Amino acid sequence: MRFEEIKKLDEEYIVQLYARYPIALVRGEGTRVWDSEGRDYLDLIAGIASCPLGHSHPKLVRAISEQAGRLMHVSNLFYIEEQVRLAKMLNDLSPMDVKAFFCNSGAEANEAAIKFSRKITRRRGIIAMSNSFHGRTMGSLAITDKKRYQKSFEPLMPEAKIVEYGNAEALRSAIGDKTAAIFVELIQGEGGIRFPRENFEESREYFREIRELCDEKGVIMVVDEVQTGTGRTGSFFASEQFGIKPDIITVAKGIAGGFPMGVTLVDANIAGGIEKGDHASTFGGNPLACAAAIATIETIVGEGLMENARRVGKYAISQAPGKARGLGLMIGVEVEDERKAEEAMIKMRERGFLVNVTSKNVVRMVPPLIITKEEMGRALENLEEVLK
Ligand SMILES: Cc1ncc(COP(=O)(O)O)c(C=O)c1O
Repeated sequence: MRFEEIKKLDEEYIVQLYARYPIALVRGEGTRVWDSEGRDYLDLIAGIASCPLGHSHPKLVRAISEQAGRLMHVSNLFYIEEQVRLAKMLNDLSPMDVKAFFCNSGAEANEAAIKFSRKITRRRGIIAMSNSFHGRTMGSLAITDKKRYQKSFEPLMPEAKIVEYGNAEALRSAIGDKTAAIFVELIQGEGGIRFPRENFEESREYFREIRELCDEKGVIMVVDEVQTGTGRTGSFFASEQFGIKPDIITVAKGIAGGFPMGVTLVDANIAGGIEKGDHASTFGGNPLACAAAIATIETIVGEGLMENARRVGKYAISQAPGKARGLGLMIGVEVEDERKAEEAMIKMRERGFLVNVTSKNVVRMVPPLIITKEEMGRALENLEEVLK
């Protein structure tokens, strides 16, 4: 199909929720994608930080094809070998001993974390941070600090509270004896690639303060690693670099290389508080999704992609025009205003580079972890030119 036909059918048959860019992507290989008109692009969006191996990575394609040919879906009525293999791998990569709940998206992983926290603590209150993003289901939306997303859907989950990101004192005051959990992103993704404090070291200190507060008050510390996880920041979980052991880590986006999967990782010491029947998902952790995740993780570890993310990410932040920040391959370039950011994104696309805009005036780059320094260099040169 040509682009105009795809667009017309979209308007006719798809619920109009997305302000889509005016191209349809039809093929991908490595860091490159092609549109319906045959134009190619260097993909620095990567399915919104969801394709760590890039597109059509042969190991991932093989794993999915083989698994699809063997067994795709059976439900959690049965024991599933791929699921336990993946859970063990995630345990080995986590900063604490964990047990896994598998679902299909980031919002779902957070939804489960809300329920698990309430069940484990027998309390109800959930605290999240200003400028946060945790998803758009009714629970996760209540802890997403975006009035525009919430307005038409109130009442949301009650007993959800927002406190200032980066302010440990505000958090201390907000925690009460009904607080079950606090949710925090280590670097806010949708919020504009923002650290909670001025720099990495001070942010580290903030997370240490949260950890202490949670220990003191018996509150569950949930770290949302939906965007920072799966090697993106240069370690498998960003928690590792920030030196913290959360009670729950939520994961999604890149975990299965672009195949839908969410995971709620619960500290093994508290997971016993969750009982059979408390939560479930028909598709969660099915053999196909798990095979995709296993191949993705094996490739990230086996091909040194976290090291590459650190190396290319460091280079990108040192070379990027304007005010650049981030960690590993989670990079934001702050520009003057919304219009300038939008313009830069469009001009980049016209030059064959896909970047997007988050938090109004931040040009975001979250490329596949396989991107080379040369590719990144070309993207940055072009970004500098279009921003002039
Ligand atoms: C930190 C964070 N949490 C949760 C979500 C929601 O994930 P999903 O769109 O898979 O529901 C996102 C999506 O951007 C995210 O960045």
